[in-house]
Amino acid sequence: MVVTEQVKELQEKIKELAEKKKALILAHYYQRPEVQEIAHYVGDSFGLSKRASQTDAEIIVFCGVRFMAETAKILNPDKKVIHPNPESGCPMADMVSKEQVLRLKEKYPDAEVVAYINTNAETKTVSDVCVTSSNAVKIVKKLKAKRIIFIPDQALGNWVKKNVPQKEFIIWKGFCPPHFEFTAREVRELKERYPDAVVAVHPECHPDVIDMADFVGSTSQIIEFATTTPAKRVIVITEVGLKYSLLKKNPNKEYIFPETMNYCGTVYCCTMKGITLQNVYESLKEEKNEVILPKEVIERAKRPILRMLELAK
Ligand code: 13P
Ligand code: SF4
Repeated sequence: MVVTEQVKELQEKIKELAEKKKALILAHYYQRPEVQEIAHYVGDSFGLSKRASQTDAEIIVFCGVRFMAETAKILNPDKKVIHPNPESGCPMADMVSKEQVLRLKEKYPDAEVVAYINTNAETKTVSDVCVTSSNAVKIVKKLKAKRIIFIPDQALGNWVKKNVPQKEFIIWKGFCPPHFEFTAREVRELKERYPDAVVAVHPECHPDVIDMADFVGSTSQIIEFATTTPAKRVIVITEVGLKYSLLKKNPNKEYIFPETMNYCGTVYCCTMKGITLQNVYESLKEEKNEVILPKEVIERAKRPILRMLELAK
């Protein structure tokens, strides 16, 4: 990362403001490197939810996509939660609505609704439990229901189904646009090019891609795997933002990311990258772009999130 004087200056200003206002800055691993650098905590979706549930800061600045900032607000209804770019949503979260879940519940009244944390707050209000990619298998195994409605990610849903064969699954057909761009052919080519490398895959990838993995896990779990594996080279199939933290944690290893191109150029999550130092600075300075949710949505959406925090222990 090239850090210009301008970037350094803005980072300093943000840090000073955060200290003065007692603000906690949280960032997901897919954030731009210069944004990750100003965060007090960088993590995967589960780590971020846990960290958000344990703060006494007065303001939380959430550098991630909207559902993440909403989760922080739901866990801290009395705090000011700022999402620096309100346009930065997760397209997968928008692929299922509360009404669609209600219709499924009517059709399968005995089922429990398992909502990937990548859902909007409204959708969480009609869900029984939330999961993230780091704990979905563990939590679903613990549920009493024999039948599971899994929303909205078909890839994670299929991964859980494969690992919990004793249950029956109704899986919604949502998907993560960037992760679904990666193909098994590309992974095969990378494996041929780097025969000594091990392959780590995020469970939002297509099942054909997951089948080629030596390890499947969330962003934090991929970092943990890459750090502990004796292999010196790791092929990493997830959003490219993770490379920054991987190199920071263990600079002596080589991380090979897919060079997948789509009609927009290299594959990355453009809404994650919608958070910039400039909008972090402006929103913290003016205390704008606050996450506002109706009280009844907060109360109802909190239940599946708290249940996740409990069941993940
Ligand atoms: P994790 O960081 O929990 O692996 O999630 C990845 C993701 O796509 C978040 O939107
Ligand atoms: Fe949503 Fe995929 Fe981007 Fe994560 S990486 S925020 S799941 S679109």
